[in-house]
Amino acid sequence: MAGLSDLPNEILLHILSFLNPPDLIPLQLVSRGFYNLARDDGFWRARCLEESTFLETLHRRRRLMGFPDRDTPHAARILHNGNGTGGSNNHGLGPNTVLDGNEDGNNNANDDDDDGERLPYTNTTIASSVLSTDETPERERVRIMANWDPCFPSERVSWYDEYVQRHGPVAVNWMQYAYDTERGTASAADHVEARGVALYYPDGEAGETVLAVSPLDDGSVAMWDVAGSKGKRGAIVARSRPGILFIDGPGADNSRRSKRIDSGVTECVSVDSRQHRAFFAVQSHLIEVDLRRLSVVECESFPWSITALSAASRTVPLTVGTSLGIHLHDYRSRKPPRNDQNEIIDGFDRMGANEFYARSLRHIFDDEPLPPYAPLSQPGPLSILHLQQPGQEADLSDDIYVAGRFSNILHYDRRKFPSIRGSIHSGARLCSMTSLPYPFSTLDSELRRQAELSLEQVEASKSVAGGRTLIACGEYNSKGSLELYGLTPTASAHTGAVGGLQNSTLKNRQNSSQSKLMSVVNHGSRLAFSDGSGYIKWFERDGFTEVRRCRIGHSEQSQGPSIFASMPGSDDIARKLLPTRPAGEAGDDDNERGGSSGRGNNSNDLLFWTGEKLGLVTFSARPGFTAEGFEKERDEGEAPDAEALRAAQSDYSERMRRALERQADDVRLVRNLGLDSGIRPA
Ligand SMILES: *[C@@H]1O[C@H](CO)[C@@H](O)[C@H](O)[C@H]1NC(C)=O
Ligand SMILES: *[C@@H]1O[C@H](CO)[C@@H](O)[C@H](O)[C@H]1NC(C)=O
Ligand SMILES: *[C@@H]1O[C@H](CO)[C@@H](O)[C@H](O)[C@H]1NC(C)=O
Ligand SMILES: *[C@@H]1O[C@H](CO)[C@@H](O)[C@H](O)[C@H]1NC(C)=O
Repeated sequence: MAGLSDLPNEILLHILSFLNPPDLIPLQLVSRGFYNLARDDGFWRARCLEESTFLETLHRRRRLMGFPDRDTPHAARILHNGNGTGGSNNHGLGPNTVLDGNEDGNNNANDDDDDGERLPYTNTTIASSVLSTDETPERERVRIMANWDPCFPSERVSWYDEYVQRHGPVAVNWMQYAYDTERGTASAADHVEARGVALYYPDGEAGETVLAVSPLDDGSVAMWDVAGSKGKRGAIVARSRPGILFIDGPGADNSRRSKRIDSGVTECVSVDSRQHRAFFAVQSHLIEVDLRRLSVVECESFPWSITALSAASRTVPLTVGTSLGIHLHDYRSRKPPRNDQNEIIDGFDRMGANEFYARSLRHIFDDEPLPPYAPLSQPGPLSILHLQQPGQEADLSDDIYVAGRFSNILHYDRRKFPSIRGSIHSGARLCSMTSLPYPFSTLDSELRRQAELSLEQVEASKSVAGGRTLIACGEYNSKGSLELYGLTPTASAHTGAVGGLQNSTLKNRQNSSQSKLMSVVNHGSRLAFSDGSGYIKWFERDGFTEVRRCRIGHSEQSQGPSIFASMPGSDDIARKLLPTRPAGEAGDDDNERGGSSGRGNNSNDLLFWTGEKLGLVTFSARPGFTAEGFEKERDEGEAPDAEALRAAQSDYSERMRRALERQADDVRLVRNLGLDSGIRPA
């Protein structure tokens, strides 16, 4: 007898479309066949749309306009469209229930009664928007899907991952704290703050290992395991000795702030994974660290304080923004290390850091003129972006964009550096940028948001050759500003510039956030940004439609509940976001890796830095790890006196808590007895 798995895939998918998403997960474990089936991209894409704000808004709008609301693109119908399975006379889920995927399961029980009412709807031609009066329901559903679908034809997307990240549970995890190693205790007072963050892929960007690299306030460099391939997820896997990032080197007096990493610089670290090098901006110095040895290998000095670094890439020089200029730093052009590498590495320790710095400083005051740099008329670049080639996630072009404490985004072409190529007026105070190697048109985006384009128009809009999108965020009139700029593909007649001219602009200054936006990144097929109110929000690429949001909350030091924990405004803020999978590495390796997750442990989570600590947003029901979890482990292996100290501390905080409770009781008692005339509880 033929089993369930002998049915054709279309039928199986149709059956699956009646299951709740959580029930589809165990199905993936049944067999290879079911694994592939339960991760079918078309299926999950339809599910994403079904539960989207986009569709909800569309239905609301149509109801307001008095249109019947019966053309919800149910997953099964979308899949069956045009594949010869006949009309979509499947169980139509009611318009209201479909918007809430969690209720799908309940519908099954009711469907029998409802079929009689619902089936006729699916056969009716529905005037659903101005453009679609003549469309069949099937075509109309496909058209709505096309208007919503945020992806571009050449883009690789795992729609299963998309669904999980759009609608699955979300958890905030805190990375292990770094402590002052010299004092040997682990109290909150000895917590050493992280001063920035960048990602390091030691096995290459397609590798499983992902490390977060941070300069710490004690002048050390620390690395955390982000994907759990080296040890415990979220744990510190390596840390240099303290002081290597201090201007006077380890052991010298570095107590003054001016000798340390400036906590106001967000983009203060860049990593070139290919060469295993990290660059740290420390005041006006750029300190280069070999990440395999965690020691300083080079130092370059600039005439002014460094305020921003571009990301490092093996294909182009690093771009360094100082308070008064933009500089190119081509570390790749240095002669390769000689064989006596050890000598170079250890040189730092032997000759003392300050000689290293003195040498690079001498360079500045040499008779040699400064290498060419682009002076800035207004100080303070905050974000430097190397734009990709059109259509290429990972290949960089010669375009450099700079945003900061000035009202324009500046554009340089590396081949013509240092002359400025152009600028884009924003008017906002921008602090973070990212980009997509695909075209953007404000008009098309707006029409698609209203689901008004035809299938052909959507295709045409997405396939404009050579277009790219610059995405920026910041603050405008104390509110958040999310800005998208479509850049023209080709030379414009009067400037002859190749690429990078602004052609289309969208500025969402209304409802991205009530507070300043801190950082923006691409995350899957969504935009993710953080704001000054402690939220991380995901928006569709139209810049207006919210997909979901999450509050970072704040990490508790392991000292018992803090009395500030529940106070509003005590939340941490994500100053910098980083998706853990590099662009161009999204979701295409299911077949290569195998295993239940298909791609090791790195499922494109979102790393964030609060200015002091690191955290990881994951898409799972329970946090994968907590900072307290690491504390416990520490405790177990610790010296008894530290143990005793902590016991005393927690005893103290417990007594404190009880005292506060007693005090509250006393106040209540006094009130109840009507005695509050001059009696104040101790
Ligand atoms: C539907 O047809 C298209 C091409 O005609 C095909 O790529 C797709 O896989 C089909 N879908 C299903 C569920 O069979
Ligand atoms: C995933 O993480 C777990 C637990 O941290 C670890 O045991 C496992 O080896 C990791 N898998 C891969 C492929 O890195
Ligand atoms: C932007 O570029 C597109 C395609 O090149 C063109 O059709 C459109 O007119 C341009 N818009 C503006 C405002 O220049
Ligand atoms: C922002 O406003 C636009 C139009 O004013 C609306 O369509 C969109 O849904 C709003 N987004 C949010 C997140 O409120």
